[in-house]
Amino acid sequence: PSGQLADTRGRMLHDLRISVTDRCNFRCVYCMPKEVFGKDYPYLPHDALLSFEEIVRLARLFVAHGVEKVRLTGGEPLLRKNIETLVARLAELRTPSGKPLDLTLTTNASLLARKARALADAGLNRVTVSLDALDDTVFRRMNDVDFAVADVLHGIDAAAEAGLGPIKVNMVVKKGLNDDQIEPMAEHFRHSGHTLRFIEYMDVGASNGWKMDEVVPSADILRRLGARWPLETLEPHYAGEVAQRWRYRDGGGEVGVISSVTQAFCSSCTRARLSTEGQLYLCLFADQGYDLRTLLRCGASDEQLATAIARIWQARTDNYSERRSADTPRSGRIEMSYIGG
Ligand code: GTP
Ligand code: 5AD
Ligand code: SF4
Ligand code: SF4
Repeated sequence: PSGQLADTRGRMLHDLRISVTDRCNFRCVYCMPKEVFGKDYPYLPHDALLSFEEIVRLARLFVAHGVEKVRLTGGEPLLRKNIETLVARLAELRTPSGKPLDLTLTTNASLLARKARALADAGLNRVTVSLDALDDTVFRRMNDVDFAVADVLHGIDAAAEAGLGPIKVNMVVKKGLNDDQIEPMAEHFRHSGHTLRFIEYMDVGASNGWKMDEVVPSADILRRLGARWPLETLEPHYAGEVAQRWRYRDGGGEVGVISSVTQAFCSSCTRARLSTEGQLYLCLFADQGYDLRTLLRCGASDEQLATAIARIWQARTDNYSERRSADTPRSGRIEMSYIGG
């Protein structure tokens, strides 16, 4: 069985986000706080991870079901050994109408300068880079491993030179921590050809101690930017685009906001997430996944796997961001570092 799949709200399966490792070399305070992700943290053992063969086999079945966009995430995906080999195999997949995939990757850029060329050669289309501040002291405080801003900027340049641009730069804004970096970041990426996007700090996982009053609403960010550099809206690239797009009227380029807290976008959420160990999650805020690895390793046929994926998606009801409240219980929820953005 193959073809387009709709869930209970008519949302089509369109994107697959594949987490390739639950490890990261950063300890961003809003994602992998050191108190939780210390030396003894039980990361997945090697044999729990899906192999590249298993990932590609599943990806092929998702593509047959209508997926056109595949994003590799982590943890930090460039920590996965030989990641360019996986990229090369995914780049060979074709949609039922014969098109190549939109194949991208989200990275903290720590290894990007070293890997950009190999990733581009393997067929990666673009990268999205996370960078939360332009001020080195603020950034080191946020990544909590003393990583320098200059090295991320160097990674962005290398990616652009390798043809992986235009690059999207994601900045998570947490009040009192880096909200003073909004204008400096905007100023830096204006006229760069790259698109900066401000992300509202979210209550993903159970570790980051999220509080509603630490969220800086996108409307405030747009007001601050607009006061300095007048803005106008841009049409979405496609229905259900996560980021709202804006343009500097003076020709400084594009900027975006991702408002998952103040303006839920569940009604158009077409994303499925495959964890490092082969659990299929239907929402970033899920506490339970569907175990595809067991099916894979028990000898299920492609047809059985495709049927399982179809049944899971067709029964989907997820809409967490439409129901979020300050006191939703968080225990048991999967971590961002486990499932990726
Ligand atoms: P592009 O088409 O490349 O722009 O993809 P994208 O907009 O999905 O970008 P990206 O994958 O970089 O997502 C940016 C961030 O938005 C993620 O890191 C998450 O923080 C957030 N995000 C993405 N998808 C979802 C989602 O389904 N739900 C929620 N709540 N947040 C999401
Ligand atoms: N809220 C919003 N964005 C987050 N990210 C990680 N944790 C959170 C959170 N709690 C972002 C990262 C990266 C992407 C994968 O998700 O900064 O840009
Ligand atoms: Fe930071 Fe991304 Fe690593 Fe999380 S996965 S700690 S957000 S770099
Ligand atoms: Fe999709 Fe869940 Fe995010 Fe809503 S909260 S947009 S359903 S991932």
